[in-house]
Amino acid sequence: MPDATVKTPPTIIVIFGASGDLTARKLAPAIFNLSKDGLLPESCHLIGYGRTEMSIDSFRDYLVKSLDSYSRRTIEEETWNALSSNISFHAGAYDDLGSFEKLEEKISTIEKAIGSPAQCLFYVSTPPGVFMPILENLGASGLAKRHQGQNTASKVIIEKPFGRDLQSAHELNEVINRRFEESQVFRIDHYLGKETVQSLLVQRFANAIFEPVWNRHYVSSVQITVSEDLGVGTRGGYYDKSGAMRDMIQNHVMQLLALTAMEPPSSLDPEAIRDEKVKALKALKPLALEGDDPEVVRAVYTEGLVGGKRANGYLEEEGIPEDSFTETYTALRLSLDNWRWKGVPFYIRSGKRLAMKASEIVVQFSRPPAILFGEGKRYNVAPNLLVIRIQPNEGITLYLNTKTPGLETKLQPIKLAFGYETTFGSNTPEAYERLILDALNGDGTLFIRGDEAETSWGLLSPVLEYWAEQGRRGLESYSAGTWGPLAADKLLLKSGHEWITGKEYGQ
Ligand code: BG6
Repeated sequence: MPDATVKTPPTIIVIFGASGDLTARKLAPAIFNLSKDGLLPESCHLIGYGRTEMSIDSFRDYLVKSLDSYSRRTIEEETWNALSSNISFHAGAYDDLGSFEKLEEKISTIEKAIGSPAQCLFYVSTPPGVFMPILENLGASGLAKRHQGQNTASKVIIEKPFGRDLQSAHELNEVINRRFEESQVFRIDHYLGKETVQSLLVQRFANAIFEPVWNRHYVSSVQITVSEDLGVGTRGGYYDKSGAMRDMIQNHVMQLLALTAMEPPSSLDPEAIRDEKVKALKALKPLALEGDDPEVVRAVYTEGLVGGKRANGYLEEEGIPEDSFTETYTALRLSLDNWRWKGVPFYIRSGKRLAMKASEIVVQFSRPPAILFGEGKRYNVAPNLLVIRIQPNEGITLYLNTKTPGLETKLQPIKLAFGYETTFGSNTPEAYERLILDALNGDGTLFIRGDEAETSWGLLSPVLEYWAEQGRRGLESYSAGTWGPLAADKLLLKSGHEWITGKEYGQ
């Protein structure tokens, strides 16, 4: 598990796609907030790599503006000055070995000035089309193999998407594995850096009360919702080639599922944890795509009311082709064929332009036997629920039945609630701070291993292929600002379940 007190060697961070949106919104704020907390190595350099020439001053200005707009805390002059003289920009193509050789020279010069071996952290934050040439050129220029086997060995962080189906994910992994050792590779999924997601393992395995009931004997279903109220905004061009399945389910939601369903690892070693996640993902049964009871639903939003204002339908959004059949919503009913979970449905859903932004895991426990309060409708015994709120309003709520005060015996579910903000205050580090720090220290616990990505694609690729064949056939719709299509409720009906997230907030 991550340990922020590890001493990091001198480091040269190279960001590919330096003038992109992610650098401005996430990477620059994360790096400077780490610096503010004294968590960057004493000697730390930042090289922006981009295709278009940019002077060092313009790159610095760009970073200052990003910090002003997106940093969670003010970056005062002292923090800025500590790093700003170590910032430079390298213009080059992604598919030109010569540009990488020049980068290598620059890095060697910086290392000489530092006076001791420095590790390189390459951050690939570009569109996926250039992942392969970047990785190949990092290999061919020798940058990938610098100081191999030592704690200063090069490291590479790769942003999603890791492929767009099983085959392309496999091809990408082949290139990565040819050029890097797996221990040098950090496939980022920013959900794993969220404080509440990190806490999942602690809640499950540092509390003795959950493990005995965390199985098919006591759990009747698990639900994972990752909903967003926003639409695709200005990202239509990207999103239309992706859709909810590739954008959210394949990575973020499957990671939440793996952490919820996995067996206890034998240690906190990154590989022990990731081995268990892979085992859980491998236990997922192939999905029924058609027939009487399909286990997959996809839908697209049409115009609707969001916060009292009219919101566009997906096809009216900027950059969306009129014949698009990309899904903005996906719901699946999954089951794991293993000893712990056999027979327990895992319902997952994610979508844009839903009623609210909420990421939650809901563990619904079995009802008590119908002997005392279970009988008939009189007592209306609600199932116990454990709601883990990933965001917003981060926290945990346990729903229990209790007697309402009075002369009559009436039951009512009450909440035992914990909120992060109430207990710990706000201003927790952003996911990217945690993840960049861990990569600097070589800790892969909160990153996706190659086989995890491929296992997840292995399950979902057949669904995507089927949808591509079907085109618009079977594509449901929902009004913007609602909880998605009726078909997604039907996924749960067979087992007498209903979606909890949303209901819980009276929506
Ligand atoms: C990204 C997706 O990975 O996650 C976006 O590409 C989505 O489409 C975002 O909006 C959601 O992240 P968060 O942290 O706001 O839940």
